[in-house]
Amino acid sequence: MSKKPIILGIESSCDETAASVITENEQGIPIILSNIVSSQVEVHKEFGGVVPELAARAHIEKIDWIVQKAIDESKIKIENIDAVASTAGPGLIVCLSVGLSFGKSFASAMNIPFISVNHLEGHALSPKLNSVLNYPYLLLLISGGHSQYLSVEGIGNYKRLGTTIDDALGEAFDKTAKLLGIEFPGGPQIEILAEKGDPDKYQLPKPIFHKGGCNLSFAGLKTAILKVSKNIKSEQDKFDIAASFQKTILEIMYKKTKNAFTEYEKNNLNNKTFVVAGGVAANKKIRSMLINLCEENNYKSIFPPINLCGDNAAMIAMVGLEKFKLKQFNNLDFPAKPRWPLDESAAFLKGAGVKL
Ligand code: KG4
Ligand code: ZN
Repeated sequence: MSKKPIILGIESSCDETAASVITENEQGIPIILSNIVSSQVEVHKEFGGVVPELAARAHIEKIDWIVQKAIDESKIKIENIDAVASTAGPGLIVCLSVGLSFGKSFASAMNIPFISVNHLEGHALSPKLNSVLNYPYLLLLISGGHSQYLSVEGIGNYKRLGTTIDDALGEAFDKTAKLLGIEFPGGPQIEILAEKGDPDKYQLPKPIFHKGGCNLSFAGLKTAILKVSKNIKSEQDKFDIAASFQKTILEIMYKKTKNAFTEYEKNNLNNKTFVVAGGVAANKKIRSMLINLCEENNYKSIFPPINLCGDNAAMIAMVGLEKFKLKQFNNLDFPAKPRWPLDESAAFLKGAGVKL
């Protein structure tokens, strides 16, 4: 029986300080030995968004004991860890630097390989923590900072098929929540409020619905919500706005995902696997709509478990595990990369004047 790699993963790109230890069984199925996530929601609540300096300070205060806790809970002896994988980007540079420096120091002190991880690749590979998933596959990555369709050809090998030209989907949920007076991050609350509302009460715009392939746009939706939110008179009005917003998102994502299928199938007709990852993949309505769409189009749908949709370090360790097996190690001078697209060759498609 060969010794299986044991990987320590560290994540600090935004407002979650996280550490995890994973390994794999004889069949190569990953095993999570520990997965510790400490959220900073309370720190940023009163500011309505993540404040970089406060986030960095909170990471610094917690990183030592979060890593210690992850090692303790894994029941692994520290000297049996084979490599350490830290998120190096994208994210807030002051936050990234905390987990990155910690990981490098740990690797150096223990004399083990260091692996730098793209946070988005962590989301992309997160379903591997509970499902057998082979390349290639179509990925929809929907988080607070990114919304993209990508053809995943292998580790480090991504082809972007579509992206948002303005807000990310999670951002659209958070901004709508803010206009309804819900504290940051309000995305998950919208789903709860929507249960009690009338989804047909408000007709909201669907930006670039009939053009732009599988590119996405949500900024116009926010402007429309801003207008209707000025006339809120009751709690029921809030429920109706949340329900109408979510229904509009479902319609947009249904159409755009169909477009992404068409785009993906140009090169991958025989590999119809669709993976959805990132914080918004926790939304049950979006999940069930996409599962139905996959059934209609003969795709196998794969989602990470709800607790691994948001930011965590098990997904960072997962990338570390794959890279370890490929001996893809990094030097200790690997920089923090605030901007680090998965498909480096794809055009930057954000801002006014983008032509689709
Ligand atoms: O992946 P994630 O934890 O962090 C980033 O890398 O951005 O995603 C966080 C985003 C937030 O915008 C949050 O509001 C959204 O995911 N989110 C949801 C739900 N749960 C989290 N949005 C809609 N419905 C949910 N249930
Ligand atoms: Zn994330």
